[in-house]
Amino acid sequence: MRALFLSLEGIDGAGKSSHLNAIEALLRSHGRTVTRTREPGGTPLAEALRELILQKPMDPLTESLLVFAARRDHILQVIEPALARGEVVLCDRFTDATFAYQGAGRGFDTQVLATLERWAQARPGSGELLQPDITLWFDLPPEIAAARLADARAPDKFEAQSTAFFRRVASGYAKRAAADPGRFIHIDANRSKEEVWEQVADALAQRGLTP
Ligand code: TMP
Repeated sequence: MRALFLSLEGIDGAGKSSHLNAIEALLRSHGRTVTRTREPGGTPLAEALRELILQKPMDPLTESLLVFAARRDHILQVIEPALARGEVVLCDRFTDATFAYQGAGRGFDTQVLATLERWAQARPGSGELLQPDITLWFDLPPEIAAARLADARAPDKFEAQSTAFFRRVASGYAKRAAADPGRFIHIDANRSKEEVWEQVADALAQRGLTP
């Protein structure tokens, strides 16, 4: 079966993580082998960097460099090998999050991010840019996400940001989605969990993942 790279994106509190188990189970029930992973993270080195990125204050360039360093290790150790085995890589966030959080949220130079993206995501051998094949974008108004997060555990550095920050992050996602409409699938996350799941399952079926 064809290898597939599937990423999930959205602002904190958008509810994407609560659907990961169901997506993995659905794909497995259709005979797919799934490598489930996340960013920042997915390898011992990248998980160590994740702790720093999520907890320590730092300037946006430092943050972007660490995010891409973690990503490079993750790609080489986990993502490319799984794709080479013909698996589905199910990844909780990828580079769209960097453009949304560091680019739009923090206001960091997106040209620099695009350069780092080309460097970090050059595929071994061909040098082509590695991108997800499909990105499920869980879109939720930041005010509603903030209300959901208010009930959550102790917030990390990003979860503790203002609603204004998340408005910018959401607009960053919208811009990335508009630039690559063939890859992004818009999920209206401002619905009940069941209705959100229906949209996810329909989208996967439409893309031929669950025939
Ligand atoms: P998570 O809580 O969904 O696991 O995501 C970790 C946090 O890291 C989330 O607040 C978004 C943030 N993040 C970035 O700022 N840049 C990135 O490139 C990625 C992948 C995540």
